[in-house]
Amino acid sequence: MPMNRQILLDNRPVAEATESNFRLVTTPTPDLQEGEVLVRHHYLSLDPYMRGRMNEGKSYAQPQPLGQVMIGGTVGEVVESRHPRYQSGDRVVGMGGWQEFSVVKADALGAIRKVDTTHVPLSHYLGAVGMPGVTAWYGLVKIIEPKAGETVTVSAASGAVGSAYGALAKARGCRVVGIAGGQDKCDYVVKALGFDACIDYKQHADAASLSKALKQACPNGIDGHFENVGGMVLDAVMLRTNAFARIAVCGMIAGYDGKPLPMTAPALILVNRIKVQGFIVSEHMEVWPEALQELGQLVGSGRFRPRETIEQGLENAPKAFLGLLKGKNFGKQLVKI
Ligand SMILES: NC(=O)c1ccc[n+]([C@@H]2O[C@H](COP(=O)([O-])OP(=O)(O)OC[C@H]3O[C@@H](n4cnc5c(N)ncnc54)[C@H](OP(=O)(O)O)[C@@H]3O)[C@@H](O)[C@H]2O)c1
Repeated sequence: MPMNRQILLDNRPVAEATESNFRLVTTPTPDLQEGEVLVRHHYLSLDPYMRGRMNEGKSYAQPQPLGQVMIGGTVGEVVESRHPRYQSGDRVVGMGGWQEFSVVKADALGAIRKVDTTHVPLSHYLGAVGMPGVTAWYGLVKIIEPKAGETVTVSAASGAVGSAYGALAKARGCRVVGIAGGQDKCDYVVKALGFDACIDYKQHADAASLSKALKQACPNGIDGHFENVGGMVLDAVMLRTNAFARIAVCGMIAGYDGKPLPMTAPALILVNRIKVQGFIVSEHMEVWPEALQELGQLVGSGRFRPRETIEQGLENAPKAFLGLLKGKNFGKQLVKI
């Protein structure tokens, strides 16, 4: 059995996470038991939720235990199998973690799933045709429930979730406006992803200024918003909401290092009768097949071409992860293993 390089959570961050929170080790892979498969990972997914897992304390999920392999989505190939449904060479998606190989009990719920790479490249099963894509689908379809002609917005628009949201909302006939950090990202969001407009929040010192830009980009107001960031961005959007707007609260990345994110005008929830709903995509497994089918068709047909930022080598995963939390990624952040 091969030697396996792994990245463990060594200690918890005090405020900002740093590379010293992680530790690289090499261990032998255990022999396979009946019902298990050995998977060699090709790509590791880096996702903002991992920052929350590094902390101790109450949340929707248990903290990442110290001294254990960091949690993470992976795609790869089966290299050895003691399970009748899996063969060497099968392409699979799973939660293999920050390591080169994983030994998986193939029948465990949600442990591993075969994927078809004929029309969809393997890596996209960690992004547009995976968890981030389904996240966009759930917030848009189940919370925002858009009608054709409505205006919908999204923050972190060029990212894994934001870009899928744009593709899904355009397919439903909406006016789609993104908010992203920097001119390059905004150009990409409009020219490559087909959003109607995108605003660079870094050009605005406060919510009032960002809100003015939103007024221009959304002349009929905002009917639905998908929040990934929090703080100033959410404040600015709230100022432009129409009566009976819906806000899907997906992420609050601006506060993941512990910075408080106050909401300036919560009274707008009442005045505009806004529905504000948070959600965790893994609590809605019933929608995954329908969502993945639509996302697979959008990507497979070339109507949605998701962008990826690929870091080379497991040892560079911590650096790439810290970059993701600062917006250094452009599209889905992966590590090639
Ligand atoms: N609720 C759920 O079940 C669920 C599931 C998946 C993801 N999420 C959330 O969805 C959001 C997007 O995730 P993703 O995987 O698609 O990541 P992503 O958008 O590909 O990458 C994160 C992006 O967030 C933006 N960002 C980082 N720090 C920021 C800050 N301080 N202020 C403003 N923007 C900041 C950056 O974009 P800019 O350069 O444009 O600022 C960065 O590229 C995250 O909040 C994540 O936690 C939630």
